[in-house]
Amino acid sequence: MAFKPEKFIEEKIAELKEQVKGKALIACSGGVDSTVAAVLVNRAVGDKLISFFVDTGYMRKNEPQQIKEMLQDKGLNLHFIDAREEFYGALKGIEDPEKKRKIIGEKFIRIFEREANKVNADYLVQGTIAPDWIESGGGLRDTIKSHHNVGGLPKDMKMKLVEPLRDLYKDEVRKVARALGVPVAERQPFPGPGLAIRIMGEATPERADIVREACFIVEDEIDKAVANKEIERPWQYFAVLLPVRTVGVHGDVRAYGNTIAVRAVSSLDAMSADYSKMPHEVLDRISIRITNELKSKVNRVVYDITNKPPATVEWE
Ligand code: XMP
Repeated sequence: MAFKPEKFIEEKIAELKEQVKGKALIACSGGVDSTVAAVLVNRAVGDKLISFFVDTGYMRKNEPQQIKEMLQDKGLNLHFIDAREEFYGALKGIEDPEKKRKIIGEKFIRIFEREANKVNADYLVQGTIAPDWIESGGGLRDTIKSHHNVGGLPKDMKMKLVEPLRDLYKDEVRKVARALGVPVAERQPFPGPGLAIRIMGEATPERADIVREACFIVEDEIDKAVANKEIERPWQYFAVLLPVRTVGVHGDVRAYGNTIAVRAVSSLDAMSADYSKMPHEVLDRISIRITNELKSKVNRVVYDITNKPPATVEWE
């Protein structure tokens, strides 16, 4: 039977009205899952749902502001938490990818707990969707990378869990998003740990700024190429900052700068992916902009031509 988003929304709101009797909390990332979950619960209980947005310092360029405006525009009772310094501090000196993920996940939970204690809520809303718990239940992916959004909850958590999207798959969530007028339905996926896992090695604030700008340029140029019908929109496209410096020249002066890898892939479900056969003209524009706009920082750009498997989409 075809999935009917309007019917799902109506039934879910009625169910949530019965289920959620007190104050509720949600951590909104601005991604489609948490936004849809927040909007649904907000429709059921109004301002009794408090939505937290945490700026980790590893978000994309302009993203915190845009997400803030979008969530407020949806009528959510929003608490914006600037936790950039806390995250930068927690990741200081950490190079191991799994450690970085664990620290980010834990930091997020600790900040969330701290803020939750101030509000004293009875319910915790999460945007968990079916593949999140299916994949985290000891499946193959779980052993490859620890999932950021599942499994990190404190064992003694007093709040009752509310997961309105638990039985939905991504395409169904997107349909619900469209029906709710949530404008995030077409965004490319973005990993929970954010830009921290696109900085190989230590994710310092300075390196976060470099990869943030490079990611912005990759997105901007690819979006323009899509709009000009030069290419189909890849599933995901971004920049990665490598932990090696290489020699270059600026004018006739020797430079020793960072290397950016550009990644663009097509995929159906992220379980496997093909690297995008990007026209050289598009790669050229990306490379020129990155090395111009990050002149003193980056002097080499490479393109990742690996499929998944054997590589993963992200580099960490
Ligand atoms: P990989 O790198 O495993 O990525 O091939 C597959 C897809 O998952 C995204 N990804 C994550 N998403 N939390 C998330 O919510 C994470 O920790 C995480 N790690 C990877 C990745 O961007 C790609 O779309």
